[in-house]
Amino acid sequence: MQAKLRIRRFNPEDGNKPWWGEYTLDNIHRTDTVLDLLHRVKWEQDGTLALRRSCGHGVCGSDAMCINGANALACKTLVNRLGGKDDVVEIQIEPLPGLRVEKDLIVDMDPFFDHYKSVMPYFVNDEPVPADGRERLQSPEDRARFDDTTKCILCAACTSSCPSFWADDRYVGPSAIVQAHRFIFDSRDDAFEERLAIMAEEFGVWRCRTIFNCTNACPRDIKITAAIAEVKRAITSGKV
Ligand code: SF4
Ligand code: F3S
Ligand code: FES
Repeated sequence: MQAKLRIRRFNPEDGNKPWWGEYTLDNIHRTDTVLDLLHRVKWEQDGTLALRRSCGHGVCGSDAMCINGANALACKTLVNRLGGKDDVVEIQIEPLPGLRVEKDLIVDMDPFFDHYKSVMPYFVNDEPVPADGRERLQSPEDRARFDDTTKCILCAACTSSCPSFWADDRYVGPSAIVQAHRFIFDSRDDAFEERLAIMAEEFGVWRCRTIFNCTNACPRDIKITAAIAEVKRAITSGKV
């Protein structure tokens, strides 16, 4: 079958405004991914196309972009999920919204990672390790409390689909809240009060208006809005 791609292009060095590049690919398969198609455009038609990718299998989180109007990982989006008829599929590809475009499909991830760093996304426990010197034990029930939020791959599909973040990028954003949740609800961690205080700040969790775009965008199917609600409840109750 054939794919007709419209790709948002932008090069800050040529002085031109953003424009749409149009590319036709023959002999594609319904089992190809959007990343496969982007590689064919770059390798066969226009080597100047700029995009990020690494693993190609939904693990590294580097190729999130806006595909037919919805944020997704290019390497996890199969052609057969994008419809198409008469053996032609039309695909529109844009950089993630809400983040400054550096070139073509590459956005500036610094604001995203600044928010990530602001929530203390690391384990805090200054107590000596137990006498056997091996591990800090945790019950299966306690582990299950934050299992979902361990799956985040920091792709930014959620934060860049959030209207509250578009309105004001000082909002810490759903991804950073997911990262905070992962440690706030870990029974072995000792810094939940500090993290809850960060979450309760002006641009913290209360900026979330329960719009759900984040949950719909997450390629790991993390229940982000539910995790945000748990953090809100922990702030109001003072308990985790
Ligand atoms: Fe990506 Fe999901 Fe993590 Fe957000 S929560 S950064 S969408 S993996
Ligand atoms: Fe935004 Fe998700 Fe809340 S889209 S408003 S962070 S539920
Ligand atoms: Fe690594 Fe898609 S290239 S997640």
